[in-house]
Amino acid sequence: MTPSKLKDFHDRLAADDDGFWLEEAHKRLDWIDPPTTAGDWSFDEDDFHIRWFADGTLNLSANCIDRHLDTRGDQAAIVFEGDEPGEGYEVSYRTLHEEVCRFANVLKSRGVKKGDRVTIYMPMIPEAAYAMLACARIGAIHSVVFGGFSPDSLSGRITDCESTVLVTADSGSRGGKHIPLKANADTALEHCPDVHSVILVRRTGDEIPVVEGRDIWWHDVRDTVDADCPPEPMAAEDPLFILYTSGSTGKPKGVLHTTGGYLLWVTMTYDMLFGPEDGGKVEDDLFWCTADVGWITGHSYVVSGPLSNGATTVMFDGVPNYPDPGRFWETSKRLGVTIFYTAPTAIRALMREGDDWVTKHDRSQLRLLGTVGEPINPEAWNWYSNVVGEGRCPVVDTWWQTETGGVLIAPVPGAVETKPGSATRPLPGVHPQLVDSEGKVLEGAAEGNLCITASWPGQMRTVYGDHERFFQTYFSTYPGKYFTGDGCRRDEDGYYWITGRVDDVINVSGHRMGTAEVESALVAHPKVAEAAVVGMPHELKGQGIYAYVTLNAGEADSDGLREELRQWVRKEIGPIATPDALQFAPALPKTRSGKIMRRILRKIAEGQPDQVGDTSTLADPAVVEDLKRNALV
Ligand code: WT7
Repeated sequence: MTPSKLKDFHDRLAADDDGFWLEEAHKRLDWIDPPTTAGDWSFDEDDFHIRWFADGTLNLSANCIDRHLDTRGDQAAIVFEGDEPGEGYEVSYRTLHEEVCRFANVLKSRGVKKGDRVTIYMPMIPEAAYAMLACARIGAIHSVVFGGFSPDSLSGRITDCESTVLVTADSGSRGGKHIPLKANADTALEHCPDVHSVILVRRTGDEIPVVEGRDIWWHDVRDTVDADCPPEPMAAEDPLFILYTSGSTGKPKGVLHTTGGYLLWVTMTYDMLFGPEDGGKVEDDLFWCTADVGWITGHSYVVSGPLSNGATTVMFDGVPNYPDPGRFWETSKRLGVTIFYTAPTAIRALMREGDDWVTKHDRSQLRLLGTVGEPINPEAWNWYSNVVGEGRCPVVDTWWQTETGGVLIAPVPGAVETKPGSATRPLPGVHPQLVDSEGKVLEGAAEGNLCITASWPGQMRTVYGDHERFFQTYFSTYPGKYFTGDGCRRDEDGYYWITGRVDDVINVSGHRMGTAEVESALVAHPKVAEAAVVGMPHELKGQGIYAYVTLNAGEADSDGLREELRQWVRKEIGPIATPDALQFAPALPKTRSGKIMRRILRKIAEGQPDQVGDTSTLADPAVVEDLKRNALV
């Protein structure tokens, strides 16, 4: 996009923001009833509400599929690339329509109706997208649970949203290893008596038990249902999906997004950041976002954003270093990928393997590179730009969150100059603000806590089943503003540099982990009395998990027990939650009122024991000396 075109967006917004949003909504989406109102919201406690395009009706799957059939029915909608290089196939928009309709009819045949919740626990295969789009087609609310989560995590998420139907596969295949999805699901379902149907997709062919009456194979029922299913008219504010994400306290929250605003936001941001250059055609690009559909990036930029725009999207069911660290570039070349979007953690891991793995594959077809999920260090940014992108591909560092639905801060290619390590400037309609810990607004170049002062269409609408928690979590710290939980610096050019979470959330390889979740998994072990978990710097993952554990009286610590506890957490939550360091502590540093002083634990885990600061308010300052002496970094 040219700078003047971007300026035009900002000017139109400044002149008449409601008019701008309605015009964009009408232009970019197909409505059954076009909306006549745009944003209707207040972040104030006494009038708290968020609505967009409230009197419009539409259907997301019709926007992602049906409206393209006349013009691009034979074009690939999805290019599937499996775990083994070259194991894959293309799904045209026409085939996507049929598969999604059939999937929708299978769901209907199991009694799924508008508003019902369907949990999806799948590998990165096209059937995962079919299931998501099929839910949207009939107005069911999907909750995708990442295939790397444990049976416990899965059952907790099924129970929280009261799903009665689960979609899963026999097993997944990642890096040559099989992941027992159905076995995990069976364990989870022991605690979920209300799940009456499991739709099973065959992925690996592994032998699995099938529960008569409850489990049905997709390939058995696929041809027994009609190949057409009319899309359900959905009010713009009807729920679209729930996605669980970790917070600073308690269990993961069910982030709820609704139909119209979310779809407009992902459609518009995809187009602005990854769409064709002026005069170009969307079908000339092949877009590869490496995220899993178990995360928001997969929802917004593997499925809805690209498909709504009529683009071709890659679904990759493998890992960056299998069969070797050249996989991304070998596959990009073979498939003809032009736009590549991945996480800094993957970039750092590949950078370490050396340039040859990149340069041995021709990358001349690549034109745009994106990153997402965590701050990218300038060294990794420069490597991505120079080595992968040969210095000619813009690097688009996109800052956003599960809660924001789509990207909020990022350089629009062609219109905004980049700086390595900065997500640069807010997209049109995004109003960031930095505040200090007292809530005082910081102007100009400053560092503080990142808030957003005005609603945007893609904003989450509630925490499923707990609206009060939604308000308390995001709008009570700094009244009248949405608080992101991130720290941020704004430089003299008005560029934003995200510094990382300022709350008790750890960002491990771009995945969010709540310290409270890991702590509660640890204390569930019979030998553990107490646990405190903080983030630690980690060369590849960005942040690692550092756990302090106090054992029950009479229990002896040992390396064996340390490993047992690490594996315990892995089993309780999933591999991404495995502590990187686990320090046994006879006691934790507490104030006289019993509150754990996490600041001290953080400093020790960061390898800065000299900077623990004032410990005089501790009930027993000597505790800190022991912690420092036995620190693992
Ligand atoms: C947190 C949100 C957005 C989809 C993937 C993660 C961090 C995300 C960036 C970036 C610096 C980033 C923030 C944010 N984050 N993108 N480009 N630069 N930090 O979604 O799991 O909801 O995590 O990820 O800390 O709050 P999520």
